[in-house]
Amino acid sequence: MSHAAPQPRTFAPTGPLRGTVRVPGDKSISHRSLMLSALAIGESRITGLLEGEDVLSTAAAMRAMGAQIEQTGDGTCIVHGVGVGGLLQPDAALDMGNSGTSTRLLMGLVASHAITATFIGDASLSKRPMGRVIDPLSLTGAEFTASPGGRLPLMVRGICPAVPIRYRLPVASAQVKSAVLLAGLNTPGITEVIEPVPTRDHSERMLAGFGAELTVEVDADGVRHIRLVGEAELKPQQIEVPGDPSSAAFPIVAALITPGSEVTVTHVGMNPTRTGIYKMLEAMGADLTYSNERMVGGEPVADITARHSVLTGIEVPPDVAPSMIDEFPVFFIAASMAQGRTITSGLDELRVKESDRLALMAAGLMAIGAQVEEREDGLVIDGSGGEPLEGGATVASALDHRIAMSFAVAGQHCYRGVTVDDISPIATSFPTFEAMLRELAAG
Ligand code: S3P
Repeated sequence: MSHAAPQPRTFAPTGPLRGTVRVPGDKSISHRSLMLSALAIGESRITGLLEGEDVLSTAAAMRAMGAQIEQTGDGTCIVHGVGVGGLLQPDAALDMGNSGTSTRLLMGLVASHAITATFIGDASLSKRPMGRVIDPLSLTGAEFTASPGGRLPLMVRGICPAVPIRYRLPVASAQVKSAVLLAGLNTPGITEVIEPVPTRDHSERMLAGFGAELTVEVDADGVRHIRLVGEAELKPQQIEVPGDPSSAAFPIVAALITPGSEVTVTHVGMNPTRTGIYKMLEAMGADLTYSNERMVGGEPVADITARHSVLTGIEVPPDVAPSMIDEFPVFFIAASMAQGRTITSGLDELRVKESDRLALMAAGLMAIGAQVEEREDGLVIDGSGGEPLEGGATVASALDHRIAMSFAVAGQHCYRGVTVDDISPIATSFPTFEAMLRELAAG
């Protein structure tokens, strides 16, 4: 897939950030709500859906496989599903754009249907490893023809009936877990995923919410056993998608690093498998308060208020990584302006996200004057002690929305601002990002 012309943008300090904002719907939950609604028989209604490019790729794919999805433009979606087992053969290749979650989860769905689908994506997605999903799904009897290195473009030849599998995750990945469970939906018998390190559990929560028979047992070693009874019948639902805690991390870190700021982000998902970033920022001395705590659509939600704080460096325990895996780029920005040293390790997975996030963040941070050592599995950062960084450089976003937004946030507290070479990837997860920053700057 070709990519539109790059859109460079300079982010300069705006003074204090103030106000109350709401961030778009959770990306992980948005993908899953479309997929499961498309597999339920009857009409589901989704509100608060993230209408970013990644989720639109999922919607287009589910339409191409027979679901009716009507978007009313304000994050509300009406979906008429085809039923588990009812996915149709798509006429053309499924274009996944930049979205790894769409690709891996849909590969699972296709694997247990008697259809064949080809997956294509942009330059970033076409570099990402799909072998981690091909390996377990091949055990079900589905067949895969991938590009060298197990990459896109690739073709999945699904099988029905597929063989139920019992699979122990070799990497902590919610996408791999979800791909196996989604394949299990249309497979006779029990599909089991064994998860030694917990990852985001939105699939488990939502499958149960749609009426699938799913159990989670934690054994004596703390290992999760997730069992799903196949040939499930999903019942249509009304789903309210909470705000994305990964997106909320951007205005919150921006407020923490910008003197005089006080920002409230409302309606933020507080699922404990996602909140590592907030725990780590608090461990660094961040002034964060939580209010209006409640349950929305089976997920805990709260409003978070962040006030400017001079942070102190910490060593991030590697076992916290899965619960803040997408937040490391903006966390590194916070660390680069903290007092003292921040050490991270166990982050090999960051090298296979939308970009190599360790390499890109290290290069960009050094370019704006931060002190960074790049290690194989993490960064070691010596912070500025709360002082602004020099800035003045142009950093590469490499088709990675979170790299682009992280350096946009850094620009708030750099003497000479920061130029991001291409902000267009931000539209994959946070189309209102720039408007939100402007609103907070206007106070
Ligand atoms: C996601 C899981 C994570 C995360 C990604 C979304 C999901 O990826 O980085 O942005 O929705 O399941 P991994 O499963 O590769 O850890």
